[in-house]
Amino acid sequence: MKHLIDPTDLTRAETDEIVALGEAMYANPAAYAETMRHKKLGTLFYEPSTRTRLSFTAAMMELGGNVLGFADATNASVAKGESVGDTARVISCFADILAIRHPLEGAPFEASMTSLVPVINAGDGSHNHPTQTLTDLITIQKELGRLDHLTVGCCGDLRYGRTVHSLIKAMARYEGVRFVLISPEELRLPEDFRREVCEKGGIACREVTSIEEAISDLDVLYMTRVQKERFPSQEEYERVKDCFVLDAAKMALAKERMAVLHPLPRVNEIAVEVDADPRAAYFRQVEYGKFVRMALITKLLEWKERDTPSQRGLFSDAALRCTNPKCITNADPRTPRRFRRQPDGTLVCACCDAKAASLK
Ligand code: NCD
Repeated sequence: MKHLIDPTDLTRAETDEIVALGEAMYANPAAYAETMRHKKLGTLFYEPSTRTRLSFTAAMMELGGNVLGFADATNASVAKGESVGDTARVISCFADILAIRHPLEGAPFEASMTSLVPVINAGDGSHNHPTQTLTDLITIQKELGRLDHLTVGCCGDLRYGRTVHSLIKAMARYEGVRFVLISPEELRLPEDFRREVCEKGGIACREVTSIEEAISDLDVLYMTRVQKERFPSQEEYERVKDCFVLDAAKMALAKERMAVLHPLPRVNEIAVEVDADPRAAYFRQVEYGKFVRMALITKLLEWKERDTPSQRGLFSDAALRCTNPKCITNADPRTPRRFRRQPDGTLVCACCDAKAASLK
C-alpha cells in the first residue's frame, strides 16, 4: 500500500504530479469539490498542531469529504495505554486515509505497518514532515516557476527542525539545487544526516553562521523557528532562541526574486516589517498547503496499490536496538523493532533511520 512517511516514499515523478495537481486545484477548486464525497480522513494528532491539522481538515472538506479523529491524545485511548499501532489499526477501520502527528520519531511508520488504509506522516519529532515539504515545493514552484537550479538557504534550527530535514531530502533530487545552511553551532544539521543525504548524494552544502553572509546568493530563504519543545533544557533554548532575525535591512541585500518561506508558527525570527515585502511568501505558502494536501489525499487513494519505499527490505533482529532515545521503539517497548540495510551496509532503524547497535 502507498503511504507517505518519508518524503522519498514519493518518487520525484510522483512528487511533481502531486505539485501539478495541487496547482490545478488551486486554479479551479470547484472542479474537485465533490471528488471525495463519502470519503473520510482520520486525523490522529498526538502533538499540538493548528495549521497542519486544520489544513488537512480544510483540504478534505474542500474535496467534499469528511474528517474524524482527535487533536489531543489525552482524550484518546492512548490515555488508557493503547499503542500507536493498535490505534492506527482501529481507526483505519473507520476512515479511508489517515494523517498522524506524534512527538516520537517513527510513530507514523509504525502506524503504516498496522493500518488498513494509506497513512500520511503529519510530523514525527525532529524526524520528518513530508506534507510541509509538499507545501514548500508547491510554494517555490508558484513563486519562482521552477524547482531545479536553485540556491536554497535554510536558516535557524537545523538540528531539531523536521521541516528542514524533509525539505533537504526532497529537494536534493532536483538538478542544480544547492543548500546554504545558516545556523549557530549548537543548531547545525546533524552530522549523520549531512553525511547520508548531502555528502553521499553529492549535494552542494555550505555552512555559514549569519544571514548576511549568504542572503545575496539565495533564490529561496527558508526560515525556521527554534524548536523549544525539543531542547533537553530551558537554558540551552534560551541561549539560542533569538539567534537569527530576518528584517528589512537584511532583505535589502537579497535578490529581487528571492522567496522567503517559513512553515510557521513564527516567533521572533522574521520581523513583522518583512510581511509587506512582496518576496515574503509565508502566508501564501499556508494557502498553497491546503491545495497540495488535497492533491496528496487524491493521489494516495488513486495509488493505493503501489508500494512504499520506506517499508521495503525490512528485517527483525532480536540482538539489535535503535540508538535514538526519541524513537518510538525505545519509548514504547511494545513497538516491533525492524531494521533496514543501507546500500553502504550500515544497519538503521526502519522507524526513525537512526543507526542500529548491538544489544550487547
Ligand atoms: C512546523 C512543524 O510542526 O514542524 N509547523 C507546521 O507544521 N506548520 C514547524 C514548527 O513547528 O516550527
